[in-house]
Amino acid sequence: MSTSAGTVDPVTTVTPLDEARVRADFPILERDARGHRLAYLDTAATAQKPRRVIDAVSDFYRSTNANVHRGVHVLSEEATEAYDGARETVARFLNATSPDEIVFTSGTTGGINLVAQSWGRNNLWAGDEILVTTLEHHSNIVPWQLVAREKGAVLRVTPLLADGSIDLEAYRTLLGPRTRVVALGHASNVLGTVLPVAEMTAMAHAVGAIVVVDGAQSAPHFPVDLQALGCDFFAFSGHKLYGPTGIGALYGRRDLLEQMAPWQGGGGMIAQVTWAETTWAPPPARFEAGTPPIAEAVGLAAAVEYLVGLGMESIGIHERELTGYLSEQLQGVEGLTVYGTAPGRIGVASFRLADVHPHDLATVLDTEGVAVRAGHHCAQPLMEHLGVNATVRASLGLYSTRTDVDQLVGALEAARKRFAR
Ligand code: ALA
Repeated sequence: MSTSAGTVDPVTTVTPLDEARVRADFPILERDARGHRLAYLDTAATAQKPRRVIDAVSDFYRSTNANVHRGVHVLSEEATEAYDGARETVARFLNATSPDEIVFTSGTTGGINLVAQSWGRNNLWAGDEILVTTLEHHSNIVPWQLVAREKGAVLRVTPLLADGSIDLEAYRTLLGPRTRVVALGHASNVLGTVLPVAEMTAMAHAVGAIVVVDGAQSAPHFPVDLQALGCDFFAFSGHKLYGPTGIGALYGRRDLLEQMAPWQGGGGMIAQVTWAETTWAPPPARFEAGTPPIAEAVGLAAAVEYLVGLGMESIGIHERELTGYLSEQLQGVEGLTVYGTAPGRIGVASFRLADVHPHDLATVLDTEGVAVRAGHHCAQPLMEHLGVNATVRASLGLYSTRTDVDQLVGALEAARKRFAR
């Protein structure tokens, strides 16, 4: 709705999600689990797929399948159009300035390794610093450790405050003339904390560092505007965004991508190959050696279109409201310790029940149809910071409802009684 000043009021234009209709879009949610209604609370590990994505992938294989950029035949032309179209869809979704800034990868891990191996190996030197945070997933730690070890660079870590938010004062102090890379998880897969990426990026740029963002847990849950964030690289995974496994995308600032050498060599990434010298194709092709994940790109584009159709603002509001309900309900469970209370969290709750091992608890929850993840969540340094070896994690998606949360809480109460015996 336009106001008299001609501006759009975001509150009045956001349509709430129709829970029943949304759930009906996900065929898997109709199945049962160990004789109970399925309460799928493991979306942070992988999201379920709407019919639209499943159909897009199977329709592609049924009617269009061919390799891209290589054939002149009709199928190849159509497959190429679909693949290139998917890149445009992703670029629009993230508000990149051009589809040429979007590289299809195998996922977030693939994207971050690409930056570490291509940009990092050519731009990091002994004594340079790579600044990460305590809440990073292993995929935003280990690639940097690998390149740091090779180049003699040093990894430094920004600590967290008690509620799981970032210690911005410490971050300010850690940034310095030797900081070349700041690698940030946009949203924590364990605590749900959302980092102030725009602010942290501006601070990093002020000392001349590039900023690499792990967007695996942000892009599926709230609107991401890359031009507003200002970061240099941003990686996400298709399967966490309600799309297929095996695909993700890496956004890279065009001037940086243009300067970067390929990470992997093979078909599709060259300008010319001779025995004497090989020259590279321009980005993004330079970074997509071999046959790309074509059907997966088509599925990812269908997922993005589905999310855009629902509205990322609407998804964000639904999940925020439900996250509040989840926190409230968990507070009422006796003996439960919940980790991470920063304001504005995504729908992730990590907890432990008294001295029950998280794997035992998750196994008991499973007997009640509740699917959660238990373990270190690929964030062992964060576990160490929390003083635990593992937690149980419930995570929400756009199809999650209060019924799922109630089923979790009911199963936790049952587990509490069972373990108390
Ligand atoms: N990174 C995924 C998770 O947090 C697998 O569960």
